[in-house]
Amino acid sequence: MARVAIIGSGFIGRGWAISYARAGHDVVLWDAVPGAPDQAIDYIAGVMPDLAANGLLGGNKPEEIRARLSAAASLQEALDGVAHVQENTPEDVEVKRKVFAQLDAAAPANAVLASSSSAILPSKFTEDLKGRARCLVVHPINPPYLVPAAEVVPAPWTDPAVVERTRDFLVTAGHAPIVMKKELDGFVMNRMQGALLEEAFRLVADGYASIEDVDIGIREGLALRWSFMGPFETIDLNAPGGVRDYVERYQGIYERIFPSQQRRVDWAGEVMDQVDGERRKKLPADKLVERQVWRDRRLMALAAHKRRAEDDIGK
Ligand SMILES: NC(=O)c1ccc[n+]([C@@H]2O[C@H](COP(=O)([O-])OP(=O)(O)OC[C@H]3O[C@@H](n4cnc5c(N)ncnc54)[C@H](O)[C@@H]3O)[C@@H](O)[C@H]2O)c1
Repeated sequence: MARVAIIGSGFIGRGWAISYARAGHDVVLWDAVPGAPDQAIDYIAGVMPDLAANGLLGGNKPEEIRARLSAAASLQEALDGVAHVQENTPEDVEVKRKVFAQLDAAAPANAVLASSSSAILPSKFTEDLKGRARCLVVHPINPPYLVPAAEVVPAPWTDPAVVERTRDFLVTAGHAPIVMKKELDGFVMNRMQGALLEEAFRLVADGYASIEDVDIGIREGLALRWSFMGPFETIDLNAPGGVRDYVERYQGIYERIFPSQQRRVDWAGEVMDQVDGERRKKLPADKLVERQVWRDRRLMALAAHKRRAEDDIGK
C-alpha cells in the first residue's frame, strides 16, 4: 500500500482521506491552518459509524481506518515518501500555482501531483514546473468517499504513464475514473450539469414549470435510471434496435427543441427571486445544514444499495 498526502484538509481533503485510507493507504494530512488536519481527522471519526452501518468501510474496522490517518507537522513531513499527492486548497489559480510549486520542489520525484480543482485547467498552474509531466487534475464529486466518479484531466504535457497510473490508483481505491483525452473547461461532469441547469432555469424563467416540478422530473423521473446507467446506455435500451434505432426514431423531437434552447438565461436575474423564494419556502435557510446531513445519509444508503444490487442483479 502507498503513502498518500492530502494537502488542504477542508471539505474535499477530508473526503479523499476517507477514500484513500479505506483503500488501505497511509494518509498524511496537511493544511496551512494549524489544527485543521486534526479537525479533519475528528470529523472523519464522526462519520465512521454511519459508514460502518451502511457497509461502506470496505471491510475495515473504524479503528483500522483511523490508524492509517495522521496529521503532519510540516508540508515536508506530509510529502515524505508519498506516491500520490492530492491537493485540495481553495479554488484560486494563484493559490494552486504557489502550492504546486511547493509540491513539485518537495515531493519525491516519482510522486503524482493531483489537484482536486473543480474548474481550473491543469495547464493554468503547472506549465512552469520542472515536474509538470507528473501533474494533473483529479476532480471528485463531494463527498468523494460516497461518489465514485472522479475526472482525471491531463495538461498537454502530462505524461500518459502518469494518467494511466492515476487511473489504476483510483480504480483500486474503489473510484470510477473518467479519463479525459485532453483538458476542456468544465471537464465532463460540469458541462453536462451546466446544460441541465441552464434548461432548468429556462423552464422556470419562461413560466413553463415550477422549480419543484423541474426537480420532480429529475428526482422521480430521469435520475432513477441515471443512478445506475448513463445517457448513452439509457437510449441504447430505449429503442428495440438500440442506439441507432433510438436516434432514427427520436432525433426529430430534440431537433425541434434545440432552437428554443439557444437563448442564454441569467441565473442571477429575475428568475432567481422565484427560485430562491420557492426553495426557501420549502427549506428555510436555518435548515440547510440539517438537510446537507440528510443528503449525505441518503447518498450512503444509495451507495450501499448500488453495491448490493450489483452483487444480486449484476453490474
Ligand atoms: N466543495 C466541493 O463540493 C468541491 C467538489 C469538487 C472539488 N472541489 C475543489 O476542491 C478544492 C478544495 O475545496 P474545499 O471545498 O475542500 O474547500 P475548503 O475551503 O473546505 O478547504 C480548503 C482548505 O485548504 C486550506 N488551505 C488554504 N491555503 C492553503 C495552502 N497554501 N496550503 C495548504 N492548505 C491550504 C484551508 O485552510 C482549507 O482547510 C477546490 O479546488 C475546490 O474547487 C470542491
